[in-house]
Amino acid sequence: MNTSVKYLGIQLKTPIIVGSCGLTGNLDNILRMQDAGAGAVIIKTKFEEEFAYDIKHNTTTLARTEIYGEAYDYVESIHHGYQMDDYFAELNKITEAVSIPVLGSINCISLESWLNYVKNYELVGCKAIELNMAMRPYDILTTASDVERTFSQVLQTIKRVTSLPVAIKLGSCFTDMARFIQQLSWSGVQSITLFDTDVWMAMDIENIRYAPMPIEHHIEDLDSTLRWISILSKKTRGTLSAATGIDNGDDVIKALLAGASTTQVSSSLYRHGIEHITTMQKALEQWMQRHNFETIEQFVGLLAMKGADNASARMRIHAIKSLFEEE
Ligand SMILES: Cc1cc2nc3c(=O)[nH]c(=O)nc-3n(C[C@H](O)[C@H](O)[C@H](O)COP(=O)(O)O)c2cc1C
Repeated sequence: MNTSVKYLGIQLKTPIIVGSCGLTGNLDNILRMQDAGAGAVIIKTKFEEEFAYDIKHNTTTLARTEIYGEAYDYVESIHHGYQMDDYFAELNKITEAVSIPVLGSINCISLESWLNYVKNYELVGCKAIELNMAMRPYDILTTASDVERTFSQVLQTIKRVTSLPVAIKLGSCFTDMARFIQQLSWSGVQSITLFDTDVWMAMDIENIRYAPMPIEHHIEDLDSTLRWISILSKKTRGTLSAATGIDNGDDVIKALLAGASTTQVSSSLYRHGIEHITTMQKALEQWMQRHNFETIEQFVGLLAMKGADNASARMRIHAIKSLFEEE
């Protein structure tokens, strides 16, 4: 049985990859992920503010740090003496020590400091870059076209500064989301990751305040991931990678049936341990065996939405049917 897939032009031995998170921040964990059978790992993200810090403190170039507001102040308060050179040296060690592909990850919201560092990912042996374009619709003064313009400028620019394949990771709120994602898929990005989750706080109702949300309490919306992949997988260029809500082997199979090329796991590994990757892989293989599939491509997209141009009408039928059948 062959579970290999092609993602961002790279051959992976399984579609199960580890999404960017705290666990992918060090070599020991990444070696365990490799041993457990992960197809690839996406390294813990560097935030745009951290690149700005490096420019301001370790170079003679001016950095526009004021555009990040409090987020920059926070990074500055914890990053005393931090050097991006050290980070890339560490990343180099990781890519040399493991045989599975390592992808860089950058969380960006503008066309500022981080672009100067993109080439470094290539030089230290990353096989691709995932841009977590964390533009969210929270600002009253930001319009949909402002957001779309930034996406388009970032994509045009990044292609000029690296020859690595680029994936974009999106949040799940956009105006005209189906059209927007389709258009994005045609603008030079090789894969789109659906979705990044929004970090929210826990409400402490006894002390009437917000508190950090423990990871095990994050509510992951697999339904939303599956719905969008199913709607868009036949309508987009390049591939879609399913993130958010993948907890076990069945979820991996569902995402592939919906049309994802790969699946990304993060919080599931916090809950069940890194070795859970092996359990997911076994479940995938056993299911393929039961259904006589020898390769992944034989079943990817079998449950992608048919007639996705009229997805709203199809969703309406589902809504009506489920309400009538409930009575
Ligand atoms: C503890 C934690 C840290 C994360 N850190 C990052 C990060 O550095 N960069 C990023 O793009 N996504 C990050 N994520 C988001 C995950 O990559 C993923 O998109 C999200 O958790 C949904 O997938 P899941 O349901 O498998 O957790 C993080 C998630 C968790 C739980």
